[in-house]
Amino acid sequence: MELFAQQMESARRMVEARLAEYFPGDDLQSAMRYSLLAGGKRIRPILCMKFCEAAGGTMEEALDFGCGVEMLHTYSLIHDDLPCMDNDDLRRGKPTNHKVFGECVATLAGDALQAAAFETVLSAEGKWRHGGGASRATAALLLAKAAGEAGMCGGQYYDTIGDGKVIHTAEELTAINDKKTGALLRAACMMGVAASLGRRSVDGSCMDAARDYATNLGLAFQIRDDMLDVIGSAEEFGKPIGSDASNEKSTYVTLLGLEECGRRVLDYTAKAKAALEKGKWRGGTEFLAALADSLAERNN
Ligand code: IPE
Ligand code: IPE
Ligand code: MG
Ligand code: MG
Ligand code: MG
Repeated sequence: MELFAQQMESARRMVEARLAEYFPGDDLQSAMRYSLLAGGKRIRPILCMKFCEAAGGTMEEALDFGCGVEMLHTYSLIHDDLPCMDNDDLRRGKPTNHKVFGECVATLAGDALQAAAFETVLSAEGKWRHGGGASRATAALLLAKAAGEAGMCGGQYYDTIGDGKVIHTAEELTAINDKKTGALLRAACMMGVAASLGRRSVDGSCMDAARDYATNLGLAFQIRDDMLDVIGSAEEFGKPIGSDASNEKSTYVTLLGLEECGRRVLDYTAKAKAALEKGKWRGGTEFLAALADSLAERNN
């Protein structure tokens, strides 16, 4: 296996092992666990850990922050699939949460995962010399801003409320995608840098680089997601194909066509990689550059 694939696999295993420790119980915990452990690429926690490493920390130091982001992301997926939103039946290759547990429990499982995300970040364990209080507070604030009206929820509002009514312009779509998808990826990357703050001073350029890398990666990521909703296979993608069309969503694909989408994915990916150059890193950023490339070509 090539080095990048090996690093990806070992980071993913770390995340899976830690996530499996949460929510071992029955009732609502079963519904939370069902979606949290259903698979998924674990891109956000991996980004969080790798940015911590690049900024001079260790992957372990950012593991709980990453798990918090993954819980918040999983909640956003459970709610995104509800009949009142995208009304989808398949997620991460399995029936969606509400198909298994019903809409009431799925709503509550999402709510509880959101609260658990903040609990996880605020009680994160790290090997910080000074207790990591500042790190945890910074990370929780980044996550709160990314999750709320100015971030994911705000983006989801415009994405869903606009259905069938508005043809969005490319600029409007970019703004929606930046909120609904970019904001949480940005938080994941910046929380990784924040995790390394706990025991050493980090150059401010690293936070700026993490922000700009994630902004561009997020835009590439959502365009690729919209492309796969048309050209993907449900087996590999783990989600229904044609969901956006059946919801009459205005996406980059409907607006610009697949070919131009492909060009924009490569363009944003190049910008993401270039943003890494702005940081005065203590560790390497090769993995982060390779990750951006691999996401541009992803089929899942
Ligand atoms: C899906 O995110 C939702 C979008 C922001 C497009 P991912 O593609 O990261 O989903 P999982 O976590 O791998 O299932
Ligand atoms: C939603 O975008 C992103 C979220 C904030 C959950 P999509 O609706 O395109 O995500 P998928 O395709 O269902 O994963
Ligand atoms: Mg959606
Ligand atoms: Mg959806
Ligand atoms: Mg989609």
